[in-house]
Amino acid sequence: MELRHLRYFVAVAEEKNFTRAAKRLFIAQPPLSRQIQQLEEELGVDLIEKGSRPLKLTEAGEFFQAHASELLEKVGALKTMTQRVGKVERTLSIGFVASTLYGLLPEIVRRFRTRYTHVQVSFHEMTTMEQIKALKEGRIDVGFGRVKAEDASVRRIVLREERLIVALPIGHALSDSDEPIRLLDLQNDVLLVYPKAPRPSFADQVLEVFRAHGIQPRNVLEVRELQIALGLVAAGEGVSVVPESVQGMKRKDVFYRTLADRQAISPVMFSVRNLDKSEELVNMLAVIYEIYDEVGIPHVKESL
Ligand code: BEZ
Repeated sequence: MELRHLRYFVAVAEEKNFTRAAKRLFIAQPPLSRQIQQLEEELGVDLIEKGSRPLKLTEAGEFFQAHASELLEKVGALKTMTQRVGKVERTLSIGFVASTLYGLLPEIVRRFRTRYTHVQVSFHEMTTMEQIKALKEGRIDVGFGRVKAEDASVRRIVLREERLIVALPIGHALSDSDEPIRLLDLQNDVLLVYPKAPRPSFADQVLEVFRAHGIQPRNVLEVRELQIALGLVAAGEGVSVVPESVQGMKRKDVFYRTLADRQAISPVMFSVRNLDKSEELVNMLAVIYEIYDEVGIPHVKESL
């Protein structure tokens, strides 16, 4: 069995159609059918139910697809990481969600750059779900996100749990009070959540915090990203629940208030390819923990 057989079978299983799979693989259909037949002969089991339209996998086929996909992802990661190890110049591509820019990300990267001058650092703004895809495709080496997305080929470390706060427009009935605000007090406001897509996203995390408190916001408006949510808050369109660090981005037309609900938190996550323990990542993690210790941010130290 060759890797080619795995790639071919996964394409057929995902497309549920030989013609589409052949097109995707840039080969003709007859050789594709022959390869799948060869694979079934070698395994001595049927992977596809004979005569099924649309194409249906047997139980063995489902099992083979799941494990073959995992193996192919591992091969992809192995290729990226080997290229990384062999490269003379050292690089670190960082994927980040916008809110981390208002937190410690700039300071972390400044210190990393000062200490490891030979490493070329690049930045790519993307959602947590986009980071998972970019890690697997080798477009980034580390992702800083917020959603606990499960993926067999990605390792996630929760760096810390950050408190959520609420952004209110000038003149909002709650903006004068110094008391922490209860989620319940926001129930009748238009709640601006982001990003709209891809899901699950920080938007779902915020909605889940409301749900966990038994509160159903009356009116939810999904927007593309953080800046749009804050701009609309400033315009008096509604309120938005954001990570505490967003306060770092001062706007004179938006008030930030703490939330009384202590469960209103969002994790800051460090995501890397499963097998990647490269020096750059180990050093980056050490810099993060060093800064947390200096600033007094509670955290649990994990190693790669
Ligand atoms: C933080 O704010 O905790 C953080 C942000 C980006 C990267 C690492 C940590």
